[in-house]
Amino acid sequence: MLPRPRGGEGREGTLTLRSPLRVRCDDAWREDLEVFATDLAGAVGWTVRRVDDGEDCDIDARRDGGCGSEGYRVRVGERIDIAAGDAAGFSYALTALRQLGPAQLWSRTPSELATWTLDALDLVDAPSFAWRGVHLDVARHFFDVAAVRRLIDLLAAHRLNHLHLHLNDDQGWRVEVPAWPGLTTVGAWRSGSPVGHEHDDVRDDVAHGGFYNAADVAELVEHARRRHVRLIPEIDLPGHAQSLLAAYPQFGNTGAPLEVWTHWGISHHVLNVEAATLEFADEVVRYVAGLFPDSPVHIGGDECPSVQWERSAAARDVMDQRGFDDPRQLQGLFTERLTRSLLAEGRAVLAWDEVLDAEVIPGTTICAWRSARKGVEAAERGFDVIMAPMQHLYFDWLSSDGPEEPVAVAPWPYVTTWEKVYGVAVIPEGLHPAHHHHVRGAQAQLWTEYIDSVARLDYMAFPRLCAFSEVVWGTGGDVEEFRPRLEHHLRRLDAMGVAYRALDPARDR
Ligand code: ACM
Repeated sequence: MLPRPRGGEGREGTLTLRSPLRVRCDDAWREDLEVFATDLAGAVGWTVRRVDDGEDCDIDARRDGGCGSEGYRVRVGERIDIAAGDAAGFSYALTALRQLGPAQLWSRTPSELATWTLDALDLVDAPSFAWRGVHLDVARHFFDVAAVRRLIDLLAAHRLNHLHLHLNDDQGWRVEVPAWPGLTTVGAWRSGSPVGHEHDDVRDDVAHGGFYNAADVAELVEHARRRHVRLIPEIDLPGHAQSLLAAYPQFGNTGAPLEVWTHWGISHHVLNVEAATLEFADEVVRYVAGLFPDSPVHIGGDECPSVQWERSAAARDVMDQRGFDDPRQLQGLFTERLTRSLLAEGRAVLAWDEVLDAEVIPGTTICAWRSARKGVEAAERGFDVIMAPMQHLYFDWLSSDGPEEPVAVAPWPYVTTWEKVYGVAVIPEGLHPAHHHHVRGAQAQLWTEYIDSVARLDYMAFPRLCAFSEVVWGTGGDVEEFRPRLEHHLRRLDAMGVAYRALDPARDR
């Protein structure tokens, strides 16, 4: 199984299941059963029937608060008994059962399965970390609703429970904001993209773009909710703003017309620090947050060059008024404004670790990406942390230093093998145990400068994401023990149609 459950042992005997499967479960878990039934029908054409107390059943699922949040127990004997702390735990128990069957149960094209035989066993399972996340940059390359729905399914199959959507960047704005239509009529489209590596300085003339409207977002939110995945919207300001400025140059520092950027990298065109701009940013972020009703909101904050502020008389005036001696402190005006208004609306707020360089409101959760050390620093300062260190968890980095790798974000030494991912420590080294409770979990990043299709996304994400899912579930251990389970798990990915990278392309050639 993958991720490996916390505990389990086999017993004598087997249980053979056939369609229709009769399942008794809590009324509140009806939706999870429907998802399971749809998946099973799609894979092997089986029927799942919900039965009442007292009737014969194949699976009997009961609520047991002792299992903890997202936790479950499974006992396979003369029938299957499930205990779960909540609906997520029930759904994870069903995922575990499917993993105990043939890979065919994961297929997206139906095939015949007469019987499904399980060995008798007991499993006890619960995650160590509540935030088991994946980040997807839909700004550099747009991924449509179908691609994101598919990724959500793949997360759920690995018991990952957060999908962070990076919704804007210099190269594209991806969510419609009706009050500011230019964000998508202009900002969602660029005239071309780099060909090969950005360093090669070659561009195509192929328009690229796309965006989600409110109905698209609602569809994604609902699809994710049914699979216990929470979507996290990110609007990244005040840097990474060139697509916004292409639509509304009045919010920039020069007023000069700009195009949506056709380079990869960090544009030095950033928002100005006038009151109207802060007001605009606040309005847009709150609107987008409203499309994701129960989600924490990520306000970006990474890589904001201050060169335009240094040259701007208006920005210098604001510095004087505020008594700032470093233009980077101006970024704190955005962080503070957006955080306060989101917190006032009852929303949790996340930001990249650069925000620690200026004013940060208590209660902000820090995504530590520049290094694990940034996570230590944030936790020691009393902030909750999501660990996203690029050295282990940036899946846009090369998967190996072999010649077969496609162009990736940077050449060697930016290499992260799946074995290296398996070795990541969610609790960063050097963090005093008194601060461990601040580490809410970890997140793998899929930046998409060099990921322009679902096939390439699969290649960069898998099998690294499999390794990550086990580490962040909290049951990672010895890579030699993991490897055969991973090899077996690849059959499930085959069934799901995932174009993963081979474990050892050099050996497999
Ligand atoms: C980042 O990679 N700029 C968060």
